[in-house]
This record gives sequence, C-alpha cells and structure tokens, in this order.
Amino acid sequence: MTTLKSTVDANAPEFGANRDAMLAKLAALEAEHAKAVAGGGEKYVQRHRERGKLMARERVELLLDEDSPFLELSPLAAWGTDYQVGGSVVTGIGVVEGVECMVVANDPTVKGGASNPSSLKKGLRAAEIAAQNRLPTVNLVESGGADLPAQKEIFIPGGATFRNLTQASADRLPTVALVFGNSTAGGAYLPGMSDYVVMVKERAKVFLGGPPLVKMATGEESDDESLGGAEMHARVSGLADYLAADEEDAIRIGRRIVRRLNWRKQGPAPRTGYGEPVHDPEDLLGIVPEDLKVPFDPREVIARIVDDSDFDEFKPLYGPSLVTGWASLHGYPVGILANARGVLFSEESQKATQFIQLANQTDTPLIFLHNTTGYMVGREYEQGGIIKHGAMMINAVSNSRVPHLSVLMGASYGAGHYGMCGRAYGPRFLFAWPSAKSAVMGPQQLAGVLSIVARQAAAARGQDYSEENDAAMRAMVEGQIEAESLPMFLSGMLYDDGIIDPRDTRTVLGLSLSAIANGPVRGTDGFGVFRM
Ligand code: COA
Repeated sequence: MTTLKSTVDANAPEFGANRDAMLAKLAALEAEHAKAVAGGGEKYVQRHRERGKLMARERVELLLDEDSPFLELSPLAAWGTDYQVGGSVVTGIGVVEGVECMVVANDPTVKGGASNPSSLKKGLRAAEIAAQNRLPTVNLVESGGADLPAQKEIFIPGGATFRNLTQASADRLPTVALVFGNSTAGGAYLPGMSDYVVMVKERAKVFLGGPPLVKMATGEESDDESLGGAEMHARVSGLADYLAADEEDAIRIGRRIVRRLNWRKQGPAPRTGYGEPVHDPEDLLGIVPEDLKVPFDPREVIARIVDDSDFDEFKPLYGPSLVTGWASLHGYPVGILANARGVLFSEESQKATQFIQLANQTDTPLIFLHNTTGYMVGREYEQGGIIKHGAMMINAVSNSRVPHLSVLMGASYGAGHYGMCGRAYGPRFLFAWPSAKSAVMGPQQLAGVLSIVARQAAAARGQDYSEENDAAMRAMVEGQIEAESLPMFLSGMLYDDGIIDPRDTRTVLGLSLSAIANGPVRGTDGFGVFRM
C-alpha cells in the first residue's frame, strides 16, 4: 500500500478559519435545502395531510429499503428563480428490494405538483442519469401537469419526458408508475408510457381531459371517476395493471414489481476487504481556504476519500499542478485527476491526456477534483502550444468512455472547467462543495477585461473615457459575476447534481460508483485526432 501522509494541522489558525467559513456555508445551504423539504408551505402541506395523503418524501422513504441511503439529486433546482426551491419534484437514486432505482416523486403541495421549467430540467436530468447508468425508474405521480402560465417553456421540450420513458423501456430499463392522484392531460402519458402502472383507489385521476374540458369539446356530461378513476382504469380501460387500496398499498405493490424484475447489474462488482481512509474526513471542512487564490494540496482531500488512503500517484514529478493517480473507492477502482495549483500548463494537459488514455485502456472510472483557474495564458505559453495541449486534454475527456465523476471543490474557471470534465462534458454525476465557484473567469478578471475593451473602444472612437463610470461598471459586473459563480446559483440552473457536504464526498462518490455499476464499464477504443 502507498498510504498518503497528511500534514494537516487541525489546530492551526488557518485551518480553523477555513473550517468556520465552510461551516457557515453549510448552514446557509441547510436553510435552502429546508425550503425544498418544506414543499409548497404550511397551508398546502396541511391541506394535503388533511386529505389523508403522504408527502412526496414520505412516499419515497416508504418505497426504499429500510435504512438504505437515498442519493437525492438536484435538491436546489429552481434556486434563484421565481419558482419554489426544489422544482416541485424530488429525484434521486434509492434502493428498492435491493435494486438501485431512479425515483421521481412529484410534490403535490407545490402548485398541485405542476411542472415548471426547473421541474422539467430536473426530470430530464433524472431520465438522463437513469439511461446512462442503466437504472429502472419508479415514478410517484401526482401532478397538475404543465404549470400553465409557463407553458411556452415546457410544452414543447417537455415532450421528451414521455419519449424518454418509452426509450428506457426499449432499452430494457423497466419503468413503473405509482399514481397517487391527479395525472391529467400530458401527465396521463406518465402512466401511459410506463411498463407497470399502479393506481390508488378513489385517488388516482388519469384522463386526457377532465369533465369541464370534455363538456367544452364534445358536450358530454361526465365525472372524474368514469373518465379516469383507478377502478375504471383497472376494470375497464386496462391502463392500470394493479388497483391499490391506499397509498401504502400502492408502494407495497411497487416494491413487489421491482422485486420481480430479475435485475442484474452489468458492471463490475466492488472488491471487498478495503478499509476506510486512515485520515479523518472531518478535516475536509478545513482544507479549502476561504480565499480560493490560496492553493491547497488535493492529496489531503484524496487521503480522506479513497480506501485506506491508498494512492499510487502517476507522474508525480511532471506537471505538478495536476495530481493524477490510482486508488479505489468503496472497492471500485478509480483514476483521479486533481488540480493542485490552479493553473493548467502544457505539461499538465499532456499528463492528463495520457492518464485518461490509460484509464480507458483498463476500463477504470475517473474522478475529477476541480480547483482550476484554467489554462495558462501569455506569450511564452501560447508559443509553447498551450491551445494544442489543452485541446488534447479536452479531446481525451470528450472521447473517453469510462464513467466520469466530477467534484467542484474550489475554482472551476474557463476552459479548465471543460478539461476537467465540466457539465457539458457529460460526467455521470457532478457535485459541488459549498466552496466551489465556476464561471468563464474570475469576477475581477472579467470586469477588468470588460474595462480594457471599453477603454480601447472609446479611444478608437476618439471619445473620453469616464473613470467614474468605469469604476461603477466594474463594481456592478464583479458583483453580478460573483453571484452567478456561486454553487447555489449553479445548482438552481441544474449545472450540477447537488451541493454536498465535503465530509460526505466519499459516501456520495461511492453511491455514484455503485449506481454506475448497473451498466457495463468499458473504455473507448479510439480518440479523435490528437494535435501533437
Ligand atoms: N399550472 C399552474 N398552476 C397550477 C396548476 C397548473 N397546471 N395546477 C394547479 N395550480 C395551482 C393552483 O392554481 C393553486 O394555486 P393557488 O393556491 O395559488 O391558488 C395551487 O396550484 C394548488 O392548486 P389546487 O387546485 O388548489 O390544488 P388541488 O390539490 O385541490 O388540485 C389539481 C390539484 C392538479 C387537481 C388541480 O389544481 C388541477 O386540476 N389543475 C389543472 C390540471 C390540468 O388540467 N393540467 C393540464 C396541464 S397539461
């Protein structure tokens, strides 16, 4: 074993300051998560309970195996928008009868569970995760369909929801719909496109058009039950495969369905006999400096997330701004790429490219730990071919076929975000720490660039340049970019799969690797043309 050593001094003042700053960020994060858990607020929650119904999260909890973990995804969807934090839907990976499933539960206390643009993005992301990692899906349905005032943003792209369901089915990924309440109009295709449908007696309502719409369309007088009640669908239309007596019964039937899926994971089984990291994960609170300009050693992080803190570093003497090496995490072999000093030079880019190729040769998943300000700029570096070398790394990341996991620990700026497998590069999962920041560049740099460009433009027009206006513009832009770089904002836009407590990193990555192992893990046979 090559056990990493640690030089972290938990009693040092800087460590204490970093820890305090991280704890403050975690407290703020907790307050935002609480908003998602509170659903539509007291009035709607109380009304929902008075109707004898379970909350979305209670349904999820009952569905999952007792004491099993739930990897909740995108809990802060819609943060920073006009919609309720959480996006009126709960999504995540949970274990049902020993099978890891994608669970999607509408929150009927938020606008009747209607889907707004954030709910849609969140649902589509959940479907993507289910497809990429080969997970069965269980939908816990109770929704008013499209959030009508926002229809222009959801009606047309929202069609993918139903297409995804049937394509999952065709790809041998079973889909189960448990219908607890309203599921009308487009929503009727949730059960309509699912492989297995369970409806709760006297509660489920599944029709293309309710009584008022039918009256308007054809003049026919009707009622909810005859148009779309659970009994009718179980006995007459045949849309319901199972009639449940109540919500608990529906969940019980749902569990029985999953039990009978004869589910087999196609990926590698984890090795057994590994140990926990020898260094305390609690220290992860104090490793990232509050000021991201201050570098930190990512080996201190690796030492607290990998099995036995055992890490075989690759090319340790070459391209030292990027740490690369092999480890295992909860028994799954992984390659790790971690930024050490912020900037990526040509050497780091070439090292990363080789390392990614090696991982593909041996079918080893990759973990990217971000803290980068991007690729090095300047005459010397341009002449040294930094564009080509950065492009090599981006080529390798783009064409690599082993699963990637990204964790934004600190900075993730510029093309460095791309090279380190940022969101657009399709990592299977991407999580951020509360200390993360991501943008095209840092706020001061961005404001400074704008200022220089504006100054040159004024000079070209022969106009005076107002220093006062320049200072005001810079302050405004810096403020805006800083706010837009913060993890809650990025999470609200669905640019990550959740912000996590650094101490949970090992658990979250372990759950992700286990979910990934539902599908085969195989590296690519070829990359694009590498510019040498
Ligand atoms: N779009 C926008 N807002 C909606 C909505 C929708 N599809 N469905 C419900 N809401 C709003 C309601 O206006 C209400 O807002 P308010 O409390 O600010 O007045 C809130 O969500 C709760 O709705 P309410 O009707 O009081 O809840 P309920 O639990 O009694 O009934 C439904 C829920 C879903 C059965 C009912 O709201 C409904 O039928 N909605 C329309 C369904 C539909 O036809 N959708 C077609 C979309 S394709």
